[in-house]
Amino acid sequence: MPLVGEFTPPGDKSISHRLILMSLLAEGEMLVQGLSSCLDVLSSLSVFRALGGIAREEPQGLRLFGLNRAWLSGERDLDCGNSGTTMRLLCGILAGAPGAHVLDGDAQLRRRPMERVAEPLRAMGAKVETHGGKPPVMIQGGALTPQSFHPSDASAQLKGAILLAGLSAQGGPTTIAEIAATRAHTERLISHFGGHVTAEGLKVTVYPGTLTLTPTFVTPADPSSAAFFLTGAALIPGSSVTAKGVLLSPGRVGFLRVLERMGASISLSMTSDVPEPMGDVTVAYAGALTATEVPAEEIPSLIDEIPILALAATRAEGTTVFRAVDELRIKETDRLMSIRHQLGALGARARVDGDDLHVEGPTSFILPESLDSGADHRLAMTLTMALLMAGATRPILGDESIAISYPTFLKDLEALCQE
Ligand code: S3P
Repeated sequence: MPLVGEFTPPGDKSISHRLILMSLLAEGEMLVQGLSSCLDVLSSLSVFRALGGIAREEPQGLRLFGLNRAWLSGERDLDCGNSGTTMRLLCGILAGAPGAHVLDGDAQLRRRPMERVAEPLRAMGAKVETHGGKPPVMIQGGALTPQSFHPSDASAQLKGAILLAGLSAQGGPTTIAEIAATRAHTERLISHFGGHVTAEGLKVTVYPGTLTLTPTFVTPADPSSAAFFLTGAALIPGSSVTAKGVLLSPGRVGFLRVLERMGASISLSMTSDVPEPMGDVTVAYAGALTATEVPAEEIPSLIDEIPILALAATRAEGTTVFRAVDELRIKETDRLMSIRHQLGALGARARVDGDDLHVEGPTSFILPESLDSGADHRLAMTLTMALLMAGATRPILGDESIAISYPTFLKDLEALCQE
């Protein structure tokens, strides 16, 4: 069934988290329009409130009242739910606070590595304990000293934690030099809220200081949510889909560049550039796709879109290779294995070679009795699109996880199928 029409994806999840969590450090108040109400962002909101933050629903959006570090002392247990972004960014914020807090989450989050964040924060002077490298994380902050870091993992959550801690360091700038460019939301928002941050190539430097919320903020729509229907439109004959008001930062739209290389028809119209580029994206079916190679340095710009791009690769002529995708092993599930097994269950030829994912196409799907997302929201949405392409319905185990990032996914899909 073709996908036809327009839709507005939920507010960008990465930006929504940062708006809420950075309000712990900032002064002033801000009316946020279009904030995501997905479960992950609700985890950040509940932690914000647990630390004393006030967030008020208003007809036009959510009004956040900056806490300006007023929460600095105390001892609390903070539940981050399923959200790795909440936990890791919060570690950076709490590192500069004298309170002692325990950060925990659900069973999936308890399997995710936290030492990558704990280690640099310890080096800056915070006391951080993990449970064998994983949550729960006990963090007791204090006076931080500025440092320079060269982490071997390309992770925007790690970069964000270091930059947010750097705002509370004393006496000089904190620097992080990345091995590959990751999404730049933390540094852009620090600057938007009046902080002092500079970026030069892969090196980002932050200076200690305070932040001031802007009176209003319009949250761009989430490209990672838009990716499912936009990619679906490139794969299903007769489709043409427009995603409205989407965040178009280069660090987030690698999937559009890859789809274009594979032969998809894509047009963009920019509507704003502040604080990040945003606009409308249209993808129309333009015939069969061809395989491509996705090099390691491109991976951070499409890390969350690999499941849906791997699905596209099952329909493309030739072998698509995603290089150095080991970060997928530590997502909500071992997403690399989940992709291989679930696409394999559909009859696709997907294999893992070292840290690379190879997908050979084109294949036509066979249909097992059920599919298993492993309660991984991005897998569940990818498998929903696979079944749509096959014109079949089958149970997808764990598909309630979709609400973690895109609560209105099925409603939006239904509307696009009816136009
Ligand atoms: C995110 C960064 C990425 C991404 C996640 C959101 C962020 O994770 O996969 O969904 O908002 O900073 P890593 O930093 O672990 O790569």
